[in-house]
Amino acid sequence: MKLCGEDAAAPAGDPWEECFQAAVQLALRAGQIIRKALTEEKRISTKTSTADLVTETDHLVEDLIISELRKKFPSHRFIAEEAAASGAKCELTHSPTWIIDPIDGTCNFVHRFPAVAVSIGFAVHQELEFGVIYHCMEERLYSGRRGRGAFCNSQRLQVSRETDLSKALVLTEIGPKRDPATLRLFLGNMERLLHASAHGVRMIGSSTLALCHLASGAADAYYQFGLHCWDLAAATVIIREAGGIVMDTSGAPLDLMACRVVAAGTREMAMFIAQALQTINYGRDDDQ
Ligand code: IPD
Repeated sequence: MKLCGEDAAAPAGDPWEECFQAAVQLALRAGQIIRKALTEEKRISTKTSTADLVTETDHLVEDLIISELRKKFPSHRFIAEEAAASGAKCELTHSPTWIIDPIDGTCNFVHRFPAVAVSIGFAVHQELEFGVIYHCMEERLYSGRRGRGAFCNSQRLQVSRETDLSKALVLTEIGPKRDPATLRLFLGNMERLLHASAHGVRMIGSSTLALCHLASGAADAYYQFGLHCWDLAAATVIIREAGGIVMDTSGAPLDLMACRVVAAGTREMAMFIAQALQTINYGRDDDQ
């Protein structure tokens, strides 16, 4: 299989080439483990709510990815979903930092719903350099490298150029909170977009794969409150390199730690959605 980005001219001496290749290999390896585990019995626990699930495979895959990367790049830092759930700080410093979601779509994984991904982002000086997202069931490898385009396997990605919400397919996800006030705001936001005549609002249970659909032009916009930096890091590079916009729900520049995002193929679409949304407060990843 020809992999993502092989057509893009490699700038001489790309300092992150070895890191990118390691991310690709580990995402594929993790994907194999997840594909096999999908049909097997699972040990399931809950984290922040009854809808926030984790399995032994999330831990296994996260440990594998981090231990392999640590062997190769001992000075690098890590932010990862299950480590954060166990109390590790989410600190994005100037050092090279890997931002990892071992299984995005854990609830799908538990139910054998086939939208499950591995997401590996990489930032240096707080700037995202590349992202790799592997759709484990469809064996699609999405990737984006700063300044070098975005790909799904060997196919270059391009976002939709739609600016009119009344012609748009919008994706979102519900975060883990299920209290009545949060649900009212969540449903109210959907209602506002449907009142503005969006063609549809969809949820697939994996924010990283939904963001890859946006990067592919299969949807026109995405918004969410309650996602984390490990849901967003890799996808942000992929969307930007596919020509799209990723911003804060206030319309300000993206804050990776703010647990909220609007992304779209065009700035007009992103701004329209940002203005329509009511904020749902999920705190910050770097405050936990
Ligand atoms: C979750 C999924 C879900 C989204 C949550 C994410 P996880 O990731 O992407 O669709 O609504 O906000 O945290 O827990 O399956 O890795």
